[in-house]
Amino acid sequence: MTKFYTTTAIDYVNGAPHIGHAYEKILTDVIYRHFTQRCENTYFLTGTDEHGIKIQKTAAEKGISPKEFCDMNAQKFKDAWKALDIDYSQFIRTTDEQHTKIVQKIFKKLVDKGDIYKHSYTGLYCSGCEAFLSEKDLTEDGLCPNHMKKPEVIEEENYFFKLTKYKDAIIKHIKTNPDFIVPAFRANEVINQLENIEDISVSRVKSNVNWGIPVLDDAEQVIYVWIDALSNYITAIGYDPDGSSEKFEKLWPADVQVIGKDILKFHSIYWIAILMALDLPLPKHILAHGWITIDQTKMSKSLGNVISPTSVLEAFNLDIPDPLRYYMASAAPCGKDGNYSDEDFKEKVNAHLANSMGNLLNRTLSMLVKYFDGDIRSEFLNKNELEKQALETVKEVKHHFDYFEVQEAAQKIIELVDVTNKYVTDNAPWTLAKEEKMDKCGEVLTNVLQVMTVISSLIYPYCPNIASRMAEQLGYDLNTKLDDITCNALKSGHLIDKENIKPVFLRMDSELADKKK
Ligand code: MSP
Repeated sequence: MTKFYTTTAIDYVNGAPHIGHAYEKILTDVIYRHFTQRCENTYFLTGTDEHGIKIQKTAAEKGISPKEFCDMNAQKFKDAWKALDIDYSQFIRTTDEQHTKIVQKIFKKLVDKGDIYKHSYTGLYCSGCEAFLSEKDLTEDGLCPNHMKKPEVIEEENYFFKLTKYKDAIIKHIKTNPDFIVPAFRANEVINQLENIEDISVSRVKSNVNWGIPVLDDAEQVIYVWIDALSNYITAIGYDPDGSSEKFEKLWPADVQVIGKDILKFHSIYWIAILMALDLPLPKHILAHGWITIDQTKMSKSLGNVISPTSVLEAFNLDIPDPLRYYMASAAPCGKDGNYSDEDFKEKVNAHLANSMGNLLNRTLSMLVKYFDGDIRSEFLNKNELEKQALETVKEVKHHFDYFEVQEAAQKIIELVDVTNKYVTDNAPWTLAKEEKMDKCGEVLTNVLQVMTVISSLIYPYCPNIASRMAEQLGYDLNTKLDDITCNALKSGHLIDKENIKPVFLRMDSELADKKK
């Protein structure tokens, strides 16, 4: 693998980021960090989607300009991603000058090619979806199924994109590339949607929607939502119809584009058609993740159960985001829905990160100091089952990430932690020390610590802070690429500094957390 380019959906800036937005960014960050352990040239794009009628209306209600409103809210997303240690390479805003200029050129290129044409239209518009819906999309009561609101009837002369022209090519692409849509069970849904596809409106009359990118050479129209929003994936890295940047040539096509299942249609149909129309290569994979509920209930403003990711960090008094990252990243099997609950969060991270993983390291390091003055004696290392299991886990984790199975990979890592704990219990190094079987005792401790270096590498994408605390105490180089991992990283003569040994993660103090909430 020579490069890895990943993207997230860009979030609407109507409000502040919630745990659903955070789920996607964490998932993508974990995937991104994993692939930084496998290749040199990696890039991670995220950002905000800032145009459209909703923003225009909300800003007007607040008595500020749309741009001021976007500036304020885009910052909230950036702050949240910083608090969660989302290591993006670039944050694009659709109001960025470079983006708007290139979107205008893309639009013009498609007009010149005959793929965009002007047409009078009466349609049902849902401002929640920022999309036109057809009758058959609606519920029996004529409501938008996502927002349970009656769509507006809109009559306008708009520009249309010839989506139908690309229908057969998209169906063929999906059928001949069964790993294009991840998880594969969603591909059928898309094929069904394609059967009834129509050309789509890609502009709005300025008098109705003025917060958008103006169409070049047609002052009455603004480019509406999807051509603007979807193009961010290429404008950010330097696509230009008149000649793209070297960066673009190096990074495009994206290796995986991560989005929620609700916008799969736009990404696996509209976006693919736009790329085909621009004669650009297609992304290798579209990963459609499931939705996060709160205590098994859909998050909604009216229910008052919308949770912000930073409020979770505050409520549990966490100085690092790792527990929340770990919890969210392992919230659901690939593509399935997941759930957040305070109780489950506390229980799971206490069990996995504090009790199993953290304690294992702490106990073993302490014993090494107690019995051997912290002296790693690699001659104690024996080819053994534990080593075999650790190296096998590296392979399995890589395999899961090849299919973007982030939860499944986490399970493998915790299984290795459990097996290592069992190895300690079975071999009881404290008894060996009491019986003065020091060679055997040293061998057991060394084996465990060598495996802990592997575990720190594997857990790094989920828990970068905990992993670096582990690596620091072990004296291990966390930059080791996954292909170079051995069970022999700690060399003979290496000394563990006893002053350095402290728990890498403390159990979440439930009383404190409850009080804070
Ligand atoms: N702006 C569009 C995306 C344009 S991409 C070119 C949009 N924005 S959004 O703010 O509504 O959603 C952003 C992402 O967050 C989407 O991928 C969406 O699926 C995801 N989620 C929003 N709520 C979610 C949950 N409750 N759970 C998981 N993800 C959810 O759509």
